Amino acid sequence: MKILITGTAGFIGNALAQRLLERGDEVIGIDNLNDYYDVSLKEARLARIRDHERFTDVREDIADREAMERVFREHRPQRVVNLAAQAGVRYSLENPAAYIDTNLVGFGNILEGCRHNGVEHLVYASSSSVYGANEEMPFSVHHNVDHPLSLYAASKKANELMAHTYSHLYQLPTTGLRFFTVYGPWGRPDMALFMFTRKILAGEPIDVFNYGNHRRDFTYIDDIVEGVIRTLDHPAQANADWSGAQPDSATSAAPYRLYNIGAHRPVELMHYIEVLEENLGKKAEKNLLPLQPGDVPDTYADVEDLKADVGYEPSTPVEEGVARFVRWYRDYYGV
Ligand SMILES: NC(=O)c1ccc[n+]([C@@H]2O[C@H](COP(=O)([O-])OP(=O)(O)OC[C@H]3O[C@@H](n4cnc5c(N)ncnc54)[C@H](O)[C@@H]3O)[C@@H](O)[C@H]2O)c1
Repeated sequence: MKILITGTAGFIGNALAQRLLERGDEVIGIDNLNDYYDVSLKEARLARIRDHERFTDVREDIADREAMERVFREHRPQRVVNLAAQAGVRYSLENPAAYIDTNLVGFGNILEGCRHNGVEHLVYASSSSVYGANEEMPFSVHHNVDHPLSLYAASKKANELMAHTYSHLYQLPTTGLRFFTVYGPWGRPDMALFMFTRKILAGEPIDVFNYGNHRRDFTYIDDIVEGVIRTLDHPAQANADWSGAQPDSATSAAPYRLYNIGAHRPVELMHYIEVLEENLGKKAEKNLLPLQPGDVPDTYADVEDLKADVGYEPSTPVEEGVARFVRWYRDYYGV
């Protein structure tokens, strides 16, 4: 299959591209390699796939409408996975424009590209942050999510709404995946595991927000990639039982689906740090701080729908995933 992936120099997009190339698909990869975090890490990820004979490297900005029209016209992908985004909850308080440009304008361009070029299925990244002020656990795609706590979260919820209109108006099958804190080798330097590792090894104190009382549904990268591929292979279908009188938020009379994709195993932040300390053979000095603006205290994914529809079965406990991350980190940075 010919699959267009956006964000192929990114953590998840790169891991996904690798797996799709391994199974024989053709991959068109778009990334603008922006400097939100270390560009050399993005380059190093890309170097793992760039020379593959079925990979085409496209250096463009998804917010560039003309460039996106050209890429879709030239490559005519059958399926599309949109992972390019301005990620990060906290940074959205500092630089809101980046979220508007990539997550809203850019996503609009992806929808248009799919609409005009007969794409069979669009899978796109949403986020557990859409649950915002919700407290009913586990978080379910059938709950209302009208109370986002950051512009990042609002941009992801907006993507779900935008996708629904294209599924409804143009019969474009779309599936939104709400990712829950993804971690693992080749991860993101702005995320906790990466920052903690760097600081603990350097003998610097780590900032632990919400006084360490967070619980997160940490999800290992291989489990995420497996779920994305299973979803990609299963285009969204209309729900024949959907009723506008009692509207279900995760399905529609149009070919539209939303799923949570998480480990379904919330872990105390303090336990996550202990596992990291054991693997590094070093104790962390902790700065205990209040909850940061925009952050949510706990996340916990209800993944029953993804299990039922595509057989999703996350299998990596944090003890194993953190150990694999630390092995990769030591090897990559030579520490
Ligand atoms: N990693 C997580 O825990 C997590 C959790 C929830 C949601 N998500 C979502 O999953 C997706 C992938 O996340 P990730 O962790 O791999 O992030 P990432 O930042 O590592 O990857 C995103 C990639 O997209 C590229 N990009 C950004 N803006 C672009 C633009 N305008 N044009 C072209 N390329 C652009 C970046 O250069 C980067 O390589 C994102 O949509 C993110 O919001 C991730």
